[in-house]
Amino acid sequence: MKKDFLWWRDGIIYQIYPRSFADSNDDGIGDLPGIISKLDYLQALGVDAIWLSPIYPSPDVDFGYDVADYCEIDPKFGTMQDFEALVKGAKKRNIHIILDLVLNHTSDQHPWFLEAKKSQNNPYHDWYLWQDPKPNGEPPNNWESWFGGPAWELDPDLGQYYYHMFHKEQPDLNWRNPDVRAAMLDVFHFWLKKGVDGFRLDVFNAYFKDPEFKDNPSQFGIRAFDRQKHIYDVSQPEMFPLLEEIRTMMDKRKDTFVVGETFLADPQQTAQYCGDGKLNAAFNFDFAQNRWHPKRFLQSALRWYQSLGDSAWPNNFLSNHDMRRAASRYCLGEDDRRAKVAAAMLLTFKGTPFMYYGEEIGLRDIPIRNISEVKDRVGKTYWPLFTGRDGCRAPMHWNDQIHAGFSSAEPWLPVHANYPKRNVDQQITDPESLLIFCKHIIQVRKEEPVLQRGDFIPLVKDPRHFLAFLRTYQDDQVLVVLNFSSRELIYDIPEGTWVSLFGEDEPNHGLISLAPYDVRLFKKVE
Ligand code: NOJ
Repeated sequence: MKKDFLWWRDGIIYQIYPRSFADSNDDGIGDLPGIISKLDYLQALGVDAIWLSPIYPSPDVDFGYDVADYCEIDPKFGTMQDFEALVKGAKKRNIHIILDLVLNHTSDQHPWFLEAKKSQNNPYHDWYLWQDPKPNGEPPNNWESWFGGPAWELDPDLGQYYYHMFHKEQPDLNWRNPDVRAAMLDVFHFWLKKGVDGFRLDVFNAYFKDPEFKDNPSQFGIRAFDRQKHIYDVSQPEMFPLLEEIRTMMDKRKDTFVVGETFLADPQQTAQYCGDGKLNAAFNFDFAQNRWHPKRFLQSALRWYQSLGDSAWPNNFLSNHDMRRAASRYCLGEDDRRAKVAAAMLLTFKGTPFMYYGEEIGLRDIPIRNISEVKDRVGKTYWPLFTGRDGCRAPMHWNDQIHAGFSSAEPWLPVHANYPKRNVDQQITDPESLLIFCKHIIQVRKEEPVLQRGDFIPLVKDPRHFLAFLRTYQDDQVLVVLNFSSRELIYDIPEGTWVSLFGEDEPNHGLISLAPYDVRLFKKVE
């Protein structure tokens, strides 16, 4: 590893959904000791950081994204000692820890909200967004909740509405109140002192809303939420000075990282939040939402790089806890060949790769066949149009034992029926498996700084079947060729002498033949 290796730029970040990774106490829910028991696995895979979805006490209306205490560990995940042990164990293996901070809203069970509801004179009342009803009793404006229904909930005792962008049990905080701002910055400090290296900010660009609560203008859309232009409930200018404050605070420590989840923002808007005095990075949803076509991926990556310019380092992801897994979207049945191409793309494109737990073994979404099985309330609301996010949150497959080795108790979500064949134990011994494939590319990436931080030069401008691009850094050049098609293809590699870094060892100059879904990496030697 090079001396100037910067973990969040050059490394690989692995997202863990703690409920579903490994269950140490057999209650059917994953936990921190479970994660600790898999640190060797993560180290061997080659990840440099783990992002933990929320681990704080939560009534789980939104499975952890409704926080009832920002500075504690939910007992279902373990204790603060477990967390400290996790940080220690991770550090020992050079794995950094990124926590998910959900600061746009709290749980309605958070003591602040319980106080806020007591009376309009309570000191915590103004920590949330309360408004009087209109004279006819209606909500103060037309804002809708992302999860369905009006974004305002009437508190009959107070005779006032409070605002919630998500479920009504997730009241939004009033970030204009300086006490809220100070309390939130304390949360950063608290976890930094515990040894955390970075944060993922949940829907950060929703923190501020229009101070006059103006109605959003309307537009065409299917859901009520989509029938509005969200110009007053998200992306307000006040976010910029706050990001600067966060950044200044983070920069007091070495090599810290903040990545933001933008809400309802296109790549250009998202990019505006990144750079000096702002976030280190933000997520590019545009890339993850592409259909299986090389040109689509190339174009959205180029749009992303162009939007960011030189001001911030990109990152890429294809799966997370809110969307169907890439393997479910792109692969045909149990065939992993597209998952290999997708993984290779993620690991060789310019930008920090974010992998979602199980992506390395091609975990597929579990099927959700009946509304009675649904755990994610969003799935219940929109059934059958949208069945919710349970599919991508099912337990990790460790082996072919009961419940895939995740737990010996019935897991909170069922394991996929394919687990006897698709699991870590099985793939680790199979040289052709997706897991071995990922480990191999990760290894190559680790040895080649050019793959970590090199420039990106597409060689085929209008790709229909395959991608060919160069990564260049100082005197190094790596050529990557990814065949997205099920057909054999011929590619004329650029002049020069190339040695193979990955894939078949044959001709390293002139014409090369690409097998269906082939992945080839070459390094220029002169
Ligand atoms: C975005 C998170 O990724 C999602 O899981 C959550 O439901 C919402 N924010 C609300 O916190």
